[in-house]
Amino acid sequence: MLTRLTLIIAAIAVAACQPGGKHGTAEPSQRLAWVDGARIIQANAEPHNWLAHGRDYSEQRFSPLAQINSSNVQRLGLAWEQSMWSERGLEATPIVVDGVMFTTSTWSRVIALNAASGEVLWQYDPEVPRGWAKKLCCDIVNRGVAVWQGRVYVGTLDGRLIALDAGDGSPVWEVDTLIDRDKWYSITGAPRVVKGKVIIGNGGAEFGVRGYISAYDANSGELNWRFYTVPGRADGPFENPELAWAVKTWSNDSYWAGAGGTAWDSMAYDPELDLLYVGTGNGSPWPAYKRSPGGGDNLFLASILALRPDSGELVWHYQTTPGDSWDYTATQHMILADLEINGRTRKVLMQAPKNGFFYVLDRESGELISAEKYVFVNWASHVDANGRAVVSQAADYRNEDKYVFPSAAGGHNWHPMAFHPGTGLVYIPARDAGWVHSIDEDKWFTLGANNLEALLADLEYPSDSGYLKAWDPQRQQLVWEKALPNIWNGGVLATAGDLVVHGTAMGDLLVLHAEDGRELQRIALGTGVIAPPMTYAVNGKQYIAVMAGWGGPAFNTLAGNEALLQYGNAGRLLVFALDGGPVPLPAAVAPRGPVPEPPPLEASAETIEQGRQLYVFNCGGCHGMYGSTPMLPDLRRMSAATHEIFDAIVLDGVLEPRGMAGFGDSLSKEDSFAIRAYITELARQAQD
Ligand code: HEC
Repeated sequence: MLTRLTLIIAAIAVAACQPGGKHGTAEPSQRLAWVDGARIIQANAEPHNWLAHGRDYSEQRFSPLAQINSSNVQRLGLAWEQSMWSERGLEATPIVVDGVMFTTSTWSRVIALNAASGEVLWQYDPEVPRGWAKKLCCDIVNRGVAVWQGRVYVGTLDGRLIALDAGDGSPVWEVDTLIDRDKWYSITGAPRVVKGKVIIGNGGAEFGVRGYISAYDANSGELNWRFYTVPGRADGPFENPELAWAVKTWSNDSYWAGAGGTAWDSMAYDPELDLLYVGTGNGSPWPAYKRSPGGGDNLFLASILALRPDSGELVWHYQTTPGDSWDYTATQHMILADLEINGRTRKVLMQAPKNGFFYVLDRESGELISAEKYVFVNWASHVDANGRAVVSQAADYRNEDKYVFPSAAGGHNWHPMAFHPGTGLVYIPARDAGWVHSIDEDKWFTLGANNLEALLADLEYPSDSGYLKAWDPQRQQLVWEKALPNIWNGGVLATAGDLVVHGTAMGDLLVLHAEDGRELQRIALGTGVIAPPMTYAVNGKQYIAVMAGWGGPAFNTLAGNEALLQYGNAGRLLVFALDGGPVPLPAAVAPRGPVPEPPPLEASAETIEQGRQLYVFNCGGCHGMYGSTPMLPDLRRMSAATHEIFDAIVLDGVLEPRGMAGFGDSLSKEDSFAIRAYITELARQAQD
């Protein structure tokens, strides 16, 4: 499919439904993609549009549209579909402005479509160097664009921020957001535009980078401010003044090769308080005892930051996981709402970060209102009255391996939640899953262990399961839940039609009643979903759109693989309406069949174990921790010929144009042999 990517150049003039062009004299609201702050703030005045990532700045992902509703959703069917030229993960939320849709596919490609017909208006390929793929923890994904005053903004996997002309997709400006291109930074998140500034962070905390968030002038691309989320050294420089006191939460002998805290996804904005909220990521390396041996909370890791959008000045912060050692990012979706709590209306910020607690904060002051467990949690007993999580012994892996809940995948990850003001519920795509944290002297993150059974012997824990949970944030309790066989499902949309819409890893679009979760509609797509659905209307007709294409970090391969494999994970944008048609299933791909006997290979148990460690660290993120994932070739099934050219692939990078980077700069021939020995061992095990 990658060869088809190069074919995509179609600069077609924009839809006829647009009165006035970019340079026309029409009212601003009639000019193409002319989104500004006032429109986003008053998004409810134009419910047919979806103007920003979470629809508006509060990021509730609730639409007032109700043409499709609980009494007629049985008539929901496919209105149109469009290939996304991808077989990997699709995570974007499309944006729709006045009949034109802007979305992204893999490799940070941008696509504009006629939102009523699906006709592709233009495409833009930033031509991310394919070798960059090895610098990503979690697939070649992108979560979408921002639209502002006739331009479309996209962050690329290799750290560029690009402004495109919304009319034809031609680049207007491009900046390099990276402070160091040799470090393993990446951008997968959607930019937000606040007060004429494009706000963008990045990822890479698994690989020893230093987190920061930048604001660029939307018009010129000039850097306005940059907020570093962690200090770079004990003695400064402190690029932003807050770092001078944040550094005191790190020990003197801290390990400053990165430190983490990357702001790779969530943001929200309150225009009245003039506060921009940003979630920050995990520590780098993961174990706090390595990163900051003398202890300390390590600000601003795993925190919610409230910043002034004009200056980047910090107004308050709330750290969800002090001294994070478990990859408990606070980069998960944040929702702003006004809730009645103990007889008072409170302006709240809600987040269900990876660490398994659902937080309700006062978004003016950062004060904790409440925090309760929304999934099975054993790393902390509770959050105390001072807003501090009380860490339990079960999470301390300094001296022995521990099976910790939630896993590094989180009780909830980036997949957006939704808030329904009518039911007052937050819908969380959640999961119960644990992670073995093991002591390892020189790795950035904990590798998991092969002594899982021994660890589990005297633990009580739930088996892995995914859920859509309807959570009452006022009472901090579960109202209903829908159990799902796979732990890695899509994001959520709520609508005034009493609907909650959710795509699953099993390839179903589920429509549930917002009040009680009863299933109203289920449409088989043939492709697993991780992206969030969204909704809009054109010429009075309501549509529901979702990007289908399963992916992300490859350790999440549980139930559903067969369903996913059957149709080759064909990445598509699927758009539904009342009285639409059936979803044509993609062409079936040949089944992989049983794992064949691997070619003979002699290696000691020691070499195989060494290969396992190298494999998990270097290869598992893409190929799956046990050699197999639905999206990529199953390494256990390598042919004898592939075994022979293994070094050319793995070290020299002969498949680099296809997204398989060469590792010659970090792995030796001996390493490559050890990895191949481990893969061979996996193939042998699959024979039993
Ligand atoms: C960034 C993601 C990524 C990482 C990390 C990665 N690979 Fe790959 N690998 C790919 C992709 C994509 C392909 C498929 C390329 C194609 O379409 O031909 C591939 C293909 C391969 C193949 C060819 C398999 C076949 O049967 O055709 C081998 C062998 C391989 N990878 C080994 C490795 C090893 C060993 C590591 C770790 C040192 C590794 N890969 C790490 C993405 C990755």
